[in-house]
Amino acid sequence: MKIGIDKIGFYAPHLFLDMNKLAVARDVDPAKYTIGIGQEKMAIAPITQDAVSLAANAALNILDDKDKEDIDFVIFGTESGIDHSKSAGVYIHDLLGLNPKARTIEVKQACYGATAGIQMAKGHIALHPKSKVLVLGADIARYGLNSGGEATQGAGAVAMVISADPRILALEDKSAYLTADIMDFWRPVYSDTAMVDGKLSNEKYISFFESVWEDYKVQSGFGLEDFTAICFHLPYTKMGQKALRAIYEQGTEEDKERLVANLEASKTYNKQVGNIYTGSLYLSLLSLLEQQEELQDGARIGLFSYGSGAVGEFFTGVLQPGYRKYLNTYDHEELLASRTELSVDAYETVFEDTLPADGSTVELEIESDPAKIALSGISGHMRHYVHKDKK
Ligand code: HMG
Repeated sequence: MKIGIDKIGFYAPHLFLDMNKLAVARDVDPAKYTIGIGQEKMAIAPITQDAVSLAANAALNILDDKDKEDIDFVIFGTESGIDHSKSAGVYIHDLLGLNPKARTIEVKQACYGATAGIQMAKGHIALHPKSKVLVLGADIARYGLNSGGEATQGAGAVAMVISADPRILALEDKSAYLTADIMDFWRPVYSDTAMVDGKLSNEKYISFFESVWEDYKVQSGFGLEDFTAICFHLPYTKMGQKALRAIYEQGTEEDKERLVANLEASKTYNKQVGNIYTGSLYLSLLSLLEQQEELQDGARIGLFSYGSGAVGEFFTGVLQPGYRKYLNTYDHEELLASRTELSVDAYETVFEDTLPADGSTVELEIESDPAKIALSGISGHMRHYVHKDKK
């Protein structure tokens, strides 16, 4: 039985910052951000968007009534959780009106969370072929104003329906994974910004990739010639280039050209959004599918997932016949094109406009946020969300 991605959608908040302008404000050569880091724009979340609302907005665009009835497992990968106890997925289950006969959980392992969700979903469908699983990855990447990681922030969400007989990508069974206890990036519970050893994180990302790639080759007998494209977790788009460069000499000149060209297409959306942590690899996959018109049905795509701390995994999928019909390219291009640009001053104000951390009540102005689902306030230590179409 084939199991894989039947639907995929994404959402980014309506505000962005131009990386050239951030560079000027930080007295950095703009080419460092646009070429050295490989980012053009950075999505900025207003106070009315958190991981829950971002993920709910991403899912809203892909689910129909049949999906809402068939989904019996919601798995939300995030490292921007809003509660130590209650799963962020439960809010989404309600906001989307899903069938109550469902399991709902939140999973965490830095940017690897959504991949863990997909692998769990695959096992669930193998046992229950008629069910569907909603896998979500949503985050707001915050390192701090003027910090070393500032140019690699971002915000957004990806939602995927995993099912039997998927219409987009069938996941193959072989997979190579690795865990090692590393302090390359983490966020203690008392901090709303991440701690990071940037150089170590880059090194570990590459060494994890090399290690799982070698393991995968031994398991599968495949080499670069068997792949049309390889998609990467993209904390910033140059990272994908660095990782591919570590292995592309293993193939012919033709393999190298094909993989480099497809990597370019897979970076298109990420360049305009920034790091969305758990959803990043899947935003890159979506970007490849929607921005590379030459991809053929039956193409094999490699996927490298990396979550600091650290867990890495390399797995693969095969594009299904007619997959292009099930994409929402126009909507996604429109979502990115219709955003509002912030000045650097305005970005700093939005960045510092955070929710109270002491349990006090707050009511938020949601009218200026065009998202259908938004955080409207906090009272009694509870977050309240509004689904504008459900009023
Ligand atoms: P930095 O010190 O600002 O930058 O840190 P740099 O000095 O290393 O320069 C970056 C690149 O720009 C270099 O290229 C420079 O040569 C180039 P490279 O050697 O890397 O190929 N450069 C220029 N290029 C053109 N024109 C110029 C110019 N100047 C310099 N004028 C760093 C960069 C990414 C480390 C920092 O932003 C950071 O710490 N970011 C956060 C950590 C991160 O993203 N790590 C990635 C791997 S870990 C991961 O992916 C997991 C993560 O997503 C978290 C999770 O799992 O939850 C982060």
